[in-house]
Amino acid sequence: MSPYAHITGWGMAVPERVLTNAELSLMVETSDEWIFSRTGIRERHIADPEQTTASLAVEASLEALRIARLKPADLDLIIVATSSPEHIFPATACLVQDRIGATKAGAFDLLAACSGFIYGLNMATQAISSGSVHTALVIGAETLSRLVDWKDRNTCILFGDGAGAFVLQAAEERAGVLSAVMRSDGSGSDLLTLPGGGSRFPTTIDTVTQGLHYVQMNGREVFRFATRVMSQSTQEAVAKAGLRLEDIQLVIPHQANQRIIETALKNLEIPPERCFINLDRYGNNSTASIPIATCEAFTAGRLKPGDNIVMVGFGAGLTWGAAVVEWSGPFHGVRKLRPARLRLYARIRSFILRLLRRIDAWMWGRNNP
Ligand code: ACO
Repeated sequence: MSPYAHITGWGMAVPERVLTNAELSLMVETSDEWIFSRTGIRERHIADPEQTTASLAVEASLEALRIARLKPADLDLIIVATSSPEHIFPATACLVQDRIGATKAGAFDLLAACSGFIYGLNMATQAISSGSVHTALVIGAETLSRLVDWKDRNTCILFGDGAGAFVLQAAEERAGVLSAVMRSDGSGSDLLTLPGGGSRFPTTIDTVTQGLHYVQMNGREVFRFATRVMSQSTQEAVAKAGLRLEDIQLVIPHQANQRIIETALKNLEIPPERCFINLDRYGNNSTASIPIATCEAFTAGRLKPGDNIVMVGFGAGLTWGAAVVEWSGPFHGVRKLRPARLRLYARIRSFILRLLRRIDAWMWGRNNP
């Protein structure tokens, strides 16, 4: 029988700096009343200059590993779902691999915008159930504050920075990720886009002058699309898991807009008490929103072993998807992790590898003039 992918560790990291609606109203023509009534957002976290998508991902990952009682070398696979990677390449996942010292892991980035975490969760689950990997780390990490135009009130009020991570481990017992659905519709690719900086519009003075390096969005259309697909994909994933909506104890939706979530719940006839919402304090953290909400739901005592949860999201692409998870918690283990020490070991290891690479290049040059 194929193994199941249990969620055995979880962690989150958000920057300390909080940007309130009141502060935003000094930057663009808006108000706390407008933002809160249209979105449900009160404030969001914004990265300091020295914080990056990878640094937030590393923090969340080490916390997830600590809870799972695993060391980085136990990981076979690292997936970073992100809409704000550090570079087009190398993958942010490789930066994380190096900084935590995951010496045996393959690492890649996954781009499905805000649905990326659901996609990543499903990909890691499939890798585990095929027997190809035993232990995987799935991360959603963002510094979208670097990609929005802080003069554009249509977009800058929505997004925040942060990271969340899950450790997935193989086990025979039926629990963990029970089902997932992934969907896309590229005919809506123009509704939410960051057009510049890729191979279609490589960065030039012209692209920068036109602001093509900023997020552009047709909010009304994205809103209509989102309300439709959130309920659809929830129903599909629940049916695929062989469950009914009544069997679901908690919905953890992508935290983009309170009204989108409320409409989806209404369509599904799920009462608001069975949904976890924290977007008032974070805004839209894109791929990080579902794992961050999961961490907070756990801390708030809303997740118990045996609970069935739906995680559901949508995003640019257009993409959308949902996963049904039976919460299980960490496997029993005794190892205590010291994140600060692990980071130090990883830095020393990375330094030695870079040094060896230079020595090797020098020797090779000497022997092959
Ligand atoms: N403050 C004040 N007024 C504003 C603001 C603002 N921040 N932003 C827009 N307005 C104005 C508009 O200019 C417009 O004025 P007009 O009628 O004079 O033209 C009016 O408010 C209404 O604008 P709408 O866009 O129709 O407002 P709406 O009620 O649709 O709310 C919002 C806008 C909040 C963006 C909503 O459409 C939404 O949340 N859409 C979904 C967006 C989303 O979830 N995106 C993330 C997807 S996930 C990912 O992949 C990253």
